[in-house]
Amino acid sequence: MQFKTLVLAASAAVTASALPAANSTANTFGVVSIHSGNAVQYAAFNAAKGSILAGLPHQNASCDRPKEQSATFYIDDGALFLYAASATPQEIFVDASGMGQGVIGYTTGAQSAPGERKGWAIDSNNHLQFGGKDLIACPNSIEGSWSIWADAGYANPGYNANCTGIAARVEKTSNPNSCLYTQQ
Ligand SMILES: *[C@@H]1O[C@H](CO)[C@@H](O)[C@H](O)[C@H]1NC(C)=O
Ligand SMILES: *[C@@H]1O[C@H](CO)[C@@H](O)[C@H](O)[C@H]1NC(C)=O
Ligand SMILES: *[C@@H]1O[C@H](CO)[C@@H](O)[C@H](O)[C@H]1NC(C)=O
Repeated sequence: MQFKTLVLAASAAVTASALPAANSTANTFGVVSIHSGNAVQYAAFNAAKGSILAGLPHQNASCDRPKEQSATFYIDDGALFLYAASATPQEIFVDASGMGQGVIGYTTGAQSAPGERKGWAIDSNNHLQFGGKDLIACPNSIEGSWSIWADAGYANPGYNANCTGIAARVEKTSNPNSCLYTQQ
């Protein structure tokens, strides 16, 4: 999808060079976990308590459409954000150090990040990746959800067990749900 968008944007640029570059903040998407044969298959990504999770029944975020329980993202210049129409950005970070082992979190507003901001991209298979690598899902997190980790070289990061690699499939949305996700 992203690839197609880029191709379309490129061909549009040829015919109408006055068109502005694609605005990544307008390219909002949800994410679905793909690992066939594993229970995490098709679990949608959530954001709650400062973490990125999958398959969480209730995010408890403050949203325009409160019934929707999945998170909406966009990428801006290699950094990953949670979508909100308001001016308070919630931005993802990754701690890929030996301490963090690939832990993913998010900050609200001007909070500084205990990790890296940049490194996010959607690959040609339409999968969200960090540092050019697929993500990892670990079971038995909050309320039966999976915690989502970047691949920092740890198959079972953060003292977890039974973690599994997933393809984080990007699902574009044209009508993003504006949310403020919980930090604690
Ligand atoms: C991109 O779109 C967002 C939301 O519509 C807007 O706030 C921002 O200023 C735009 N950025 C650019 C570079 O056009
Ligand atoms: C969401 O709110 C319910 C009801 O207060 C609570 O039981 C649950 O633990 C909360 N879940 C999260 C992820 O915050
Ligand atoms: C990992 O899987 C094994 C075998 O199914 C199970 O006994 C164990 O409780 C699991 N541990 C965690 C932390 O999920």
